[in-house]
Amino acid sequence: MPNNILIKKKLKPFIKKIFVTSDKSLSIRCVLLASVAIGVSKIENLLESEDVKDALKAIKKLGIKYEKKKKYYFIYGSGLNGLTTNSSLILNAGNSGTLARLILGLLAKTKNVIKIIGDKSLSKRDFSRVVNPLKNFGINIRSNNGFLPVKIYGGEFLRPIYYEENIGSAQCKSAVLLAALNTPGITKIKAKKSRNHTELLMKSLKIPIQIKSKKKFDLIELKGLNEFKGFNYKIPGDISSSAFFIVLTLITNNSRITIKDVNINESRTGIIKILNMMNAKILYLNKRNYKGEKVADIFVESNNKLKSINCPISLNSSAIDEFLVIFLAASKARGISQFRNLGELNKKESPRLDIAVKFLRMIGIKVQRKKNNIKIHGDPNLNLKGKFVIKNFFQDHRVFMMSCIAALAFGGEWKIYDKKSINTSFPNFIEILRELGAKIN
Ligand code: S3P
Repeated sequence: MPNNILIKKKLKPFIKKIFVTSDKSLSIRCVLLASVAIGVSKIENLLESEDVKDALKAIKKLGIKYEKKKKYYFIYGSGLNGLTTNSSLILNAGNSGTLARLILGLLAKTKNVIKIIGDKSLSKRDFSRVVNPLKNFGINIRSNNGFLPVKIYGGEFLRPIYYEENIGSAQCKSAVLLAALNTPGITKIKAKKSRNHTELLMKSLKIPIQIKSKKKFDLIELKGLNEFKGFNYKIPGDISSSAFFIVLTLITNNSRITIKDVNINESRTGIIKILNMMNAKILYLNKRNYKGEKVADIFVESNNKLKSINCPISLNSSAIDEFLVIFLAASKARGISQFRNLGELNKKESPRLDIAVKFLRMIGIKVQRKKNNIKIHGDPNLNLKGKFVIKNFFQDHRVFMMSCIAALAFGGEWKIYDKKSINTSFPNFIEILRELGAKIN
């Protein structure tokens, strides 16, 4: 099977209702928390992507049983001290920063050394940001000069910590929360705003966690060593996967889409706020609450009157995985859009800020860059004719998907490499594009 695709035609107008795959962040958190719950958890709609499969493989290596029956995963948790290993172990987190970082917190009390490794992309990412706070608990943990492999030797006598999370990284915050679960006493965190799924899930499980939400940060307190029972959870759709279809619909003529059952947690909906500030009129329908998370259907209509934005820095964290497609919308908007402080984008599965700037310039969009700030000169008449090849050297799933959206919305003849990368988060991405009428070879 070739690992590249060809797109030679723009997408025609469409009116559709779709489901996207389930939320990746919630899927990984459910697997990890279920593994240390007491008794069985029943997870519906678990995302079946590589990142989540790697999480399942990891807990299995740690002695946890799971099985799939129909659309449910049953995970047989064995309590906070239940992750057992008879000898030292290697866990491969693949491409997943979330898995690699969060599982370190769960392993705070391991008795045997566990080595975390990952693929080429994950091996280039910073782990000091999570290893340093974990050391403060009294956990014996070492990285390879800030990178993988990370070896965790655990700690017998852990102490609660006060931790200031200043990056806005949910992975760091969550790793600390999971370590705090294993630690006596109260761990306190002052965290710059970032996605709060771990906190909400813990709250729904009656783990003693308190969250005070301030404008720019959250104050969190968690009392450790409280066992909790296995749970049922139905995972909603992923807004990060929806993002590709939201932007595709916006910038394709005369089209409409309804994306069913999507998680619209405030800490994830930066893309909707940003696009609506650009004059899109995206709506939430059928809004409801599910165990502290908000879920809705997202309704989007084409809009050929998008205007530029001076994007508030305060929205960066809640749109962090969506900027690649947001930049495509800015390329079609009237005026010059500004995005600032996007250094974190270069710390993802690939250096996404660098890649986005090259990409936009390649398709003829003027981009000015000063360090981590960019200005995109939009062109409402953008209509491509040439040939484009996207090598996707880092095999980044979101680079692949955003390239497909650009090809289908802007025209031209495209060869896009590394189709397999979508297995990380959105295995049926191409099938859904075909449902909308896309011609993809
Ligand atoms: C995630 C947090 C974010 C995000 C990633 C998933 C999570 O990373 O980019 O795709 O599930 O906690 P950071 O914590 O590094 O910002």
